[in-house]
Amino acid sequence: MDGTIGIIGGTGPAGRGVAIRLAKAGYDVSIGSRDAQRAGEVVGAMAVPSEGAIRGVANEDAAMADVVIIATPWDSAVATAKALRELLAGKVVISMVNALVREGRELVPLYPSRGSMAGQLATVLPTSRLVGAFHHLPAAQMEDLASGLDADVVVFGDDAAAREAVAGLIDEMPGLRSVVAGTMSLAGAVEAFTAVCVSINIRHKAHSYVKLEGLGN
Ligand SMILES: NC(=O)c1ccc[n+]([C@@H]2O[C@H](COP(=O)([O-])OP(=O)(O)OC[C@H]3O[C@@H](n4cnc5c(N)ncnc54)[C@H](OP(=O)(O)O)[C@@H]3O)[C@@H](O)[C@H]2O)c1
Repeated sequence: MDGTIGIIGGTGPAGRGVAIRLAKAGYDVSIGSRDAQRAGEVVGAMAVPSEGAIRGVANEDAAMADVVIIATPWDSAVATAKALRELLAGKVVISMVNALVREGRELVPLYPSRGSMAGQLATVLPTSRLVGAFHHLPAAQMEDLASGLDADVVVFGDDAAAREAVAGLIDEMPGLRSVVAGTMSLAGAVEAFTAVCVSINIRHKAHSYVKLEGLGN
């Protein structure tokens, strides 16, 4: 894929992990924050691969990239995206947002209106090309390029060309393989399955991740 990549809310573990692997694939990544100085400090503490570049910027600047990933907590994703709507118009926007809450030793899924966070984001970003991806990935292993991660990334969206472009981008990232699942109708199921993944890891004190068998190459 050509172009730059911005990550809204990219200072958290999820955004940092995706940024590291995009940079390793040679991309120029902007990690966005509500506070550009904080973003700069976060990037300063990261081990940025020499193949690409990562800079810390305000969310508004990250939203100016060619492809934009939303990586805020679920309860701030819609308001954050809405405020950036004009900057995101016409662009491929990737939601990795999961609506989950902790209950004892488990994470359980919430069911947002429109059935999913991606659905909510598609509603507030009607002219963006919304794709869902990266939901099930363990952030710590993503950020550590030596972790041996070999994970599948389930991709969904209604815009087939955007979906395929995101799948191609994922396939360039070390340790990841894209698996296109289908349309936005699957968003709620994909997001909710993250609760299963994380709860398994809590219960089994493990760092497992999703890898689908039987797909071929
Ligand atoms: N952690 C994982 O392993 C993982 C894996 C896959 C997907 N996800 C999903 O990715 C998203 C981010 O996960 P995370 O663990 O990185 O979350 P996080 O650390 O809680 O939040 C990410 C960033 O969002 C910004 N943020 C926090 N509260 C905000 C608010 N009220 N308004 C706007 N921005 C706010 C913060 O950046 P600033 O303070 O710098 O603005 C924060 O560093 C979540 O939706 C999660 O479900 C997480």
